[in-house]
Amino acid sequence: MDKKVILTGLRANNDLHIGNYFGALMPIVDMAHNRADDYDINLFVPDLHSFTTPIDHKQLYAQTLHNLKLFVAAGLPLDHPNIHLYRQSFVPAHSELTWILDCFSGFGQLQRMTQFKDKSKDLDNSDNPEAAISVGLFNYPVLMAADILLYDASYIPVGDDQTQHIEFARDIAQRMNSKFSEIFIVPKSVTEQHEFFGHDQGLRIKDLVDPLKKMSKSAASSKGVVFLGDDPKDAAEKIMSATTDSVGTINFDSANQPGITNLLTLLALLRQEPQENINAEWVGKSRYGDLKKTLATAMEQFLEGFQTRLASVNEGLLLSKLESDEKLINAVANAKLLTVQKAVGLRQK
Ligand code: TYM
Repeated sequence: MDKKVILTGLRANNDLHIGNYFGALMPIVDMAHNRADDYDINLFVPDLHSFTTPIDHKQLYAQTLHNLKLFVAAGLPLDHPNIHLYRQSFVPAHSELTWILDCFSGFGQLQRMTQFKDKSKDLDNSDNPEAAISVGLFNYPVLMAADILLYDASYIPVGDDQTQHIEFARDIAQRMNSKFSEIFIVPKSVTEQHEFFGHDQGLRIKDLVDPLKKMSKSAASSKGVVFLGDDPKDAAEKIMSATTDSVGTINFDSANQPGITNLLTLLALLRQEPQENINAEWVGKSRYGDLKKTLATAMEQFLEGFQTRLASVNEGLLLSKLESDEKLINAVANAKLLTVQKAVGLRQK
């Protein structure tokens, strides 16, 4: 790998939802198409990140493969030599670097991470690992920093819920570089990332039941979340029962009408049309039911098409790509780990 690296991951603790699809999967697939000639593109499933909150472990292995298939169904080319596909836990250097980075990470900084605060709200401080805030949840950003720094990644396309973690990876790289001379490439700042990726960054699809919250794989109820594997008819029903408001007029205004705005956003994405066109069609109208019906139909058609493509993904091809990429990626990651081990005194320079 001799080009600048673009890297990203999508967890596999559940089926992906349409927030992941439009906020991450599609931009990643488009980016891979457009940039693979000029960059190395690392796409991985952060399977070790999957159980920072409790999951069904019986499903994890299959879920990981399933999520990789979603990339392929969304159009990711498997035959490009600069696109590297791998599973985090198949590259042990991620875990080893995490421990080293842990010892250079401040407890206070990790405690202030928004995602940690949000996710730990529903958990407690008991000793019961099924209900308690795990050390893994706390440590999550450090593992994510290791994922990024192992490959000297410059650009990391993620939704804006992850930008604080990118800043954390930058901080730790800068801290270690100034203590041990230059060992890591510092990822680009979030502003530079936005300039590089353009409008794809920062999109946040909201939960259909509680549109003040982002749509999340780990939401307590699945009524507000449309999963890519949902029966298309059930998904349409979820749209029909989405929470709106009592204003009585359709406006694109996330502060005052977050539910309606979320529906307009989804319609623009499903129709692949600029938001302005959709707004021109709907803003000012009063029949929320019509908007819901139009969106429900668009969602149903989208899921039918996507699920047909998913069913035809060639699993054999995917597995042989994983096997050869994981070999290459282990070599790259081990070389960087050795540099760090030498810097911190674990290996002879
Ligand atoms: P994860 O798996 O929670 O989410 C995957 C990607 O989807 C984006 N996303 C959304 N975008 C729009 N609307 C939503 N409702 C929505 N929900 C999630 C996320 O921003 C993300 O880009 N920590 C990462 C995984 C990770 C990673 C990494 C990413 C682990 N190591 C290294 C990049 C680099 C995460 O939890 O994503």
